[in-house]
Amino acid sequence: MQDTYGRNISYLRLSVTELCNLRCRYCMPAEGIAKRNHAEMLTEEEMVRAVRAAARLGVTKVRITGGEPLFKPNILSICRGVCAVEGIRETALTTNGTRLEALAGPLRAAGIRRVNISLDTLDARKYAWMSRTGRLEEALSGIEAALEAGFEKVKINTVLIGGFNGDEVADLANLTRKWPVDVRFIELMPMPGSGLRDEEAYIPCSKVLEWLPEAQPAKVHDGVARLYRLPGALGNIGLISPLSNHFCAECNRLRLTADGHLKPCLHSGDEISLKGLDEEGMLEAMKQAVRMKPRQHEALSAREESRSARPMNRIGG
Ligand code: 5AD
Ligand code: SF4
Repeated sequence: MQDTYGRNISYLRLSVTELCNLRCRYCMPAEGIAKRNHAEMLTEEEMVRAVRAAARLGVTKVRITGGEPLFKPNILSICRGVCAVEGIRETALTTNGTRLEALAGPLRAAGIRRVNISLDTLDARKYAWMSRTGRLEEALSGIEAALEAGFEKVKINTVLIGGFNGDEVADLANLTRKWPVDVRFIELMPMPGSGLRDEEAYIPCSKVLEWLPEAQPAKVHDGVARLYRLPGALGNIGLISPLSNHFCAECNRLRLTADGHLKPCLHSGDEISLKGLDEEGMLEAMKQAVRMKPRQHEALSAREESRSARPMNRIGG
């Protein structure tokens, strides 16, 4: 379906849980978040129903997110259900990777074609500090397991954080020489509840290019990322710059939260609930959400917080 501004909405991001085993400082408070009442959250049946409604709207790509989707007990069954929906051709999942060693093969068998894995540092001490509860080793074994499981594409997502990983940009980019992965650098967004948000924590993507003088623009295009390549690399470097160069004009997505709220825009407080609706009702709600998609989000900078009513773990990254 086309929205008011002629954008074709073809991509649904489906968050299956708000919970996570990690507590990344830009995403979650130290104590984690309260587990919500089961009855408020979408059931597996409702998630698959929502994807069927989305397919009727013209959605062809679904990304499963969280929280951390791989800590959802019925994740494989959700994936099988979503991947079996007619019209859904691209199926992807975003994860912190810490459970991929066990789940990469089963996810591939369930029909997931691509995975994005979050990795903000290659230093075990820094990883433990940023994630508060995680171990770098687990994430790295997860990446290797994903590469072995035969996904069509494996991407690594690095959030750029001043004073934390600016000095590691070259090392992280060099992973594209070691593995057939894309490494994507993402500007830190000022989300509510984030513990990292001052101007020092913000690194614009243009810095990455200064730090990677060998990077050459790649001819391919990949959604919201601008792509570059290092000589001899097996994968691309992607720059995702929600602050310095917002990509609203190309936004083709809707988001569905784990408690069943459609978000027409990541940075707006507007939400429409799907909880408890039948497929026709969900389809109507989705049409309404598409009609509500703003042309672009309001100002977003290190000083101007997102107008989202939710922190990142309750939206899906
Ligand atoms: N800014 C940018 N990216 C974020 N993510 C989570 N919070 C933020 C933020 N404030 C990213 C994670 C992961 C994906 C789920 O979203 O690092 O790659
Ligand atoms: Fe968990 Fe991802 Fe949030 Fe880190 S960024 S706490 S891994 S949901």
